[in-house]
Amino acid sequence: MNYQFQACDEQKTAELAAQLAEEAYSGMVIILDGELGAGKTHFSKAFAKAMGVKAVVNSPTFTLIKEYEGKKLPLYHMDVYRINVEEAEELGLDEYFYGDGVSIVEWGSRITELLPKERLEIRIEHAGEHERKLFLIPFGKAYQVICEELRENGVVS
Ligand SMILES: Nc1ncnc2c1ncn2[C@@H]1O[C@H](COP(=O)(O)OP(=O)(O)OP(=O)(O)O)[C@@H](O)[C@H]1O
Ligand SMILES: [Mg+2]
Repeated sequence: MNYQFQACDEQKTAELAAQLAEEAYSGMVIILDGELGAGKTHFSKAFAKAMGVKAVVNSPTFTLIKEYEGKKLPLYHMDVYRINVEEAEELGLDEYFYGDGVSIVEWGSRITELLPKERLEIRIEHAGEHERKLFLIPFGKAYQVICEELRENGVVS
């Protein structure tokens, strides 16, 4: 089962991110996929803002992992575009995935075998200059519940 969200502009994408951030809990893992410029970092920034992160959130493409303090929880923002599975293995990502905060992984599908079984995958597709289609794929009960709730509220279909 997957869920769809239409974003007619970047504000809409940010709104979905903020709604998901309301559900944030320790150990939440969100995987973002989609080609260059799809909006993965844009989504992450909006999610961080909604978590109460005051610092400026930038693309972690070169730093790989950045940690931020949200109001209630830390946020671990990762980008694994430039590394392979072996290199990612050395980062000890489980410490983040099973840590106190929320993990957001851009390009996470490149390291599927290292991801926790329970996670929310979001695939972002271009549908125009400012339009995007987001596909939410929940792995595990907790994420299914979140997606179902969004559907009941008419946010996703
Ligand atoms: N509906 C939309 N949702 C998200 N971003 C949008 C949307 N419409 C336009 N944009 C723009 O698209 C760009 C997305 O860039 P962003 O850095 O978030 O992409 P990315 O997926 O992280 O790319 P990369 O793979 O290079 O990290 C931003 O400039 C953003 O303003
Ligand atoms: Mg990015």
